[in-house]
Amino acid sequence: MFETPTETAAATGAFPAVRPRRARRTAGLRRMARETRLSPDMLVLPLFGIDGEGREEPIDALPGHSRLSPDLLAARARRAHDAGIPAVLIFGVTDVKDAAASMASASDGPTQRAVAAAKEAAPELVVITDVCLCGFMDHGHCGVVVDDEVHNDLSLELLAQTAVSHAQAGADVVAPSDMMDGRVAALRAALDAEGHAQTAILSYAAKYASAFYGPFREAAGSAPGFGDRRGYQMDPANAREAVREMTLDVGEGADMVMVKPAATYLDVIRAGREAVDVPVAAYHVSGEYSMIKAAAERGWLDERAAAMETLTAMARAGADVIVTYHAEDVVRWLEETP
Ligand code: PBG
Repeated sequence: MFETPTETAAATGAFPAVRPRRARRTAGLRRMARETRLSPDMLVLPLFGIDGEGREEPIDALPGHSRLSPDLLAARARRAHDAGIPAVLIFGVTDVKDAAASMASASDGPTQRAVAAAKEAAPELVVITDVCLCGFMDHGHCGVVVDDEVHNDLSLELLAQTAVSHAQAGADVVAPSDMMDGRVAALRAALDAEGHAQTAILSYAAKYASAFYGPFREAAGSAPGFGDRRGYQMDPANAREAVREMTLDVGEGADMVMVKPAATYLDVIRAGREAVDVPVAAYHVSGEYSMIKAAAERGWLDERAAAMETLTAMARAGADVIVTYHAEDVVRWLEETP
């Protein structure tokens, strides 16, 4: 039927008729053939809020990031908005810690003040808050501790109060990162009861007990005072369980779910994308960012290339939203070369 070897090869999809390199030959062809495109639309910039005025405390382990008082945080949020970044994720940081995480839900707490300032400076910016207790507890755990254990159901009440206080301050989205069972339902019920039915929930549904949060814990002063978080955060060995967590959270009313960390959990991002219909966010966490920064400082990696490759992999795996400390760099890099 086929006259020449080339015709036969073409029909069977083989070399020499078939040459995948043709579509890679020039930058223009590569642009056409690209399957995944990062866009500023996907990005969320994390910000750390503290009390005071005119205060900026650079975070050693997160080069380029600082703890900021509300006025400076608002300016940074405005700058991100002006650059085309649609959303920020705010973490309040404080030295005032106790066994009831009082500052987590205080109306003048660091998160609440940062939210109000950011919203005032950039009303259209989507303001997301991290809802957790670890940075506000004297023991540094994400929930209420009873007999050296993090008590699930007692923690829900405090988490719900915290989320409501964030909504009152003006947050568009609250993002529980504590990993207690039933927290999404508890937050949804409390938000609705307090008149915040429009406040969305982005659940850190598949959050692993990871070594890659190290720099963040320095930034937020939230390292546990005893033990670790393996009794509530997920075992890095498990992927089916992540799908279960995401499905449960969507059932409880989560509007979006998150996988965290991201670079070492691409299979989980993909599984989540296939299992749920809500947007899936990937959190490129502090340690993942700092590794690239540190290697680049030593001249061992090209920062831009390594970061863009890592973040593109998350989008390729199925992430709709990417939380990254590189957000402002990405916008600049995308502008420099389309
Ligand atoms: C709070 C929280 C953590 C991170 C986000 N929210 C730390 C932790 O769980 O110990 C980590 C973020 C990062 O590493 O960039 N529970």
